[in-house]
Amino acid sequence: MNEFAEAAALMPDPFRILWKEEVGSTNDELRALAQNGTGEGLVLIAGSQTAGRGRRGAEWFSPAGEGLAFSVLLKPTVPKEFWSRLSLVAGLAVAEAVEKFVPLAEIKWPNDVLVNGRKIAGILVEAGRDFVIVGIGININSLEFPNGLAATSLALETGVAIKRPQVLLEVVKRLSVHAGRLGQGFENTMDGVRQRCRLTGKRVQFTSSGVVKTGLVKGLGTGGELLVEIAGSLELIVQADEVRVLPA
Ligand code: BTN
Repeated sequence: MNEFAEAAALMPDPFRILWKEEVGSTNDELRALAQNGTGEGLVLIAGSQTAGRGRRGAEWFSPAGEGLAFSVLLKPTVPKEFWSRLSLVAGLAVAEAVEKFVPLAEIKWPNDVLVNGRKIAGILVEAGRDFVIVGIGININSLEFPNGLAATSLALETGVAIKRPQVLLEVVKRLSVHAGRLGQGFENTMDGVRQRCRLTGKRVQFTSSGVVKTGLVKGLGTGGELLVEIAGSLELIVQADEVRVLPA
């Protein structure tokens, strides 16, 4: 199975790798497999994606061989109201994995992962009837990005080429720990997210339910909500479009 063979043998139960040379989007491909009854833990990795998707319909830029584009199939046993926590869980798993290579990775709520203020990974979580697909794109060995993109890669941050399977294995290990804490133990995961929360203490602007809001981020709630002080009162934001940090 190419460069990922060794990592495949080290995956924690029930995770296992399926490698595909080229797909449209690993999330779409894995959704089809899930709908056909594939069991929890399949990790679908693509050599390249021809239609990689980001949040809010954006494209995901992942040149072949340079990045890591994969999707993980989970079948949470907790009530559905807790499934949205997987966004934060995945963000923390990726941040912790990235920190095997660099001193600090920050999480820009809900789940962009940044190093030195630049995006190093993006996550797209999509739910089906009885499953969730966690799609993860990490910039590993790219040395340049399209103009205007505030992005970075592990190679740019460390100055050396990084082995992609090593990163994959770290992410899956951390994901298996945090995904087991969606109900009980979620406060431990939240501690990790809070320590890395890029937005706390920042003035931000975002659109929530069609309304543009501006406020000061006070932190994260127990369920992972963004706590924002807006015109003197505290609001719990569960979902928002792109959160923009305003100049101090
Ligand atoms: C974002 O930052 O907007 C999310 C990007 C998510 C990209 C990954 S790459 C693997 C998986 N397959 C996709 O089509 N998207 C996700």
